[in-house]
Amino acid sequence: MDVLSVASEIYPLVKTGGLADVAGALPLALAGHGVAMHTLVPGYPQVMGAVTDGRVVARFADLFGGPAALVAARVDGLDLFVLDADHLYDRGGGIYVDQGGMDWADNWKRFGALSQVAAHLGAGLVEGYQPSVIHAHDWQAALAAAYVAFGSAPRAKVVVTVHNIAFQGKFGAEIFPHLGLPDAAFDVNGVEYYGGVGFLKGGLRCADAITTVSPTYALEIRTPEFGMGLEGLLNERSPDLYGILNGIDGVAWNPRADPNLAANYSATTLGKRRSNREALAARFGLDPSDGPLFALVSRLTWQKGIDIVADNVDWLVSLGGQLVVLGSGDAHLEAAMEQAAARHPGRVGFIGGYDEALSHLIQGGADVVLVPSRFEPCGLTQLYALRYGAVPLVSRVGGLADTIVDANEAAIEAGAATGIQFSPVDGPVLGAAIARAVALYQHKANWSRLQRRGMKTDVSWTASAGKYAALYRDLLGR
Ligand code: ADP
Ligand code: GLC
Repeated sequence: MDVLSVASEIYPLVKTGGLADVAGALPLALAGHGVAMHTLVPGYPQVMGAVTDGRVVARFADLFGGPAALVAARVDGLDLFVLDADHLYDRGGGIYVDQGGMDWADNWKRFGALSQVAAHLGAGLVEGYQPSVIHAHDWQAALAAAYVAFGSAPRAKVVVTVHNIAFQGKFGAEIFPHLGLPDAAFDVNGVEYYGGVGFLKGGLRCADAITTVSPTYALEIRTPEFGMGLEGLLNERSPDLYGILNGIDGVAWNPRADPNLAANYSATTLGKRRSNREALAARFGLDPSDGPLFALVSRLTWQKGIDIVADNVDWLVSLGGQLVVLGSGDAHLEAAMEQAAARHPGRVGFIGGYDEALSHLIQGGADVVLVPSRFEPCGLTQLYALRYGAVPLVSRVGGLADTIVDANEAAIEAGAATGIQFSPVDGPVLGAAIARAVALYQHKANWSRLQRRGMKTDVSWTASAGKYAALYRDLLGR
């Protein structure tokens, strides 16, 4: 079975968050389930630079305002269709935002084009390639479902996966005539959304199946608190809505062989983590300490609860803890972290920016990985923490609720606990959870049980890739 994945980022070529990790790992995991996955990606400079033996398989004289070519290539074991369109993707800045951090004004063209080309591929654009399912990720690809539904070609089935419902791709009605959709698509049963155009909304309306990345988030997005306006539509479509947990790439994230670590280790040689902790302390300028080392690796945004971490820094330090933070994002949150580091030299370290290698060292050296998100569709950092024997301290939402077993007394007793959960998401409750972590850390036997139990948790793609494969097959049978 051939499935065309459509994604605006893919590890290892271009990544801003977990979507890239998923888009990069799923094709390899699906191969074991008899599914051949190609991925359609935008030809950003990072992607074009990685394509060495590409072959042009289609050309467009005018794709949303300029010429474009579709290039087939195999890169890092991934079968790609790269959309090479200089007017859309060949520029500096971020992949979604300009140098000033504002969304590119032409994002509707950039991702409308991606979605439209996905539908063309589904309709047999490339000789010898006929996907039976199109799997579109997030709003940047979701419009593919509308292009397919309102197109005239025999229908490929379309799955839309929601990785984060906070990003919806909402635009004014004036863009509609330029999308190349029939007038009928500007309708409540199409892409029309509160008088404008909604890329994700249209995708959710038109998809054959909708998935999101954890069972709990699949329930949460049907409520006003988490649905961000789409809860009504998702409730209507609930028979076709599935929650399938993300896994992790066990080759890229393997403490036994990770080249980014100062020392490799396994569940039976946890003592070697100390070298990683020392390397981390050196990178972040921390003093030697016997207290727990907390860490945060994250986009610095409201979603991730960074503000309540900032509120707890003095408390964490007063309990004997240390903290390292790696991240970039909202200016006021970066400033709060910089100030925290300045207030506590030798105890708190902040490195702004994005550093894949350092994120691995943090997982391999920290004692506690903080994930205090206000909402979290799945979350990958807590899964990396489990694999690396760092103890995740997480809020009880979305995928965090589904993947971590709280270290309450019964769970410790039963040997089932893998981390610490807290709820609701606010500063004082996080503060109490931090105190619990510090207390647990003092009890060395319990702490290493927690670490070892975490390391035994299955965070691979095996089970979930099977669920996607079963869903594709189910759709084809309908
Ligand atoms: P989200 O996709 O919402 O940002 P996830 O937990 O699913 O959250 O995925 C985040 C991914 O991005 C993880 O692979 C994490 O290690 C990585 N990451 C986030 N911030 C940074 C950073 N500053 N440097 C390196 N990696 C980062
Ligand atoms: C999104 C979510 C995150 C999820 C990731 C991959 O970025 O915020 O929770 O893990 O997508 O599915």
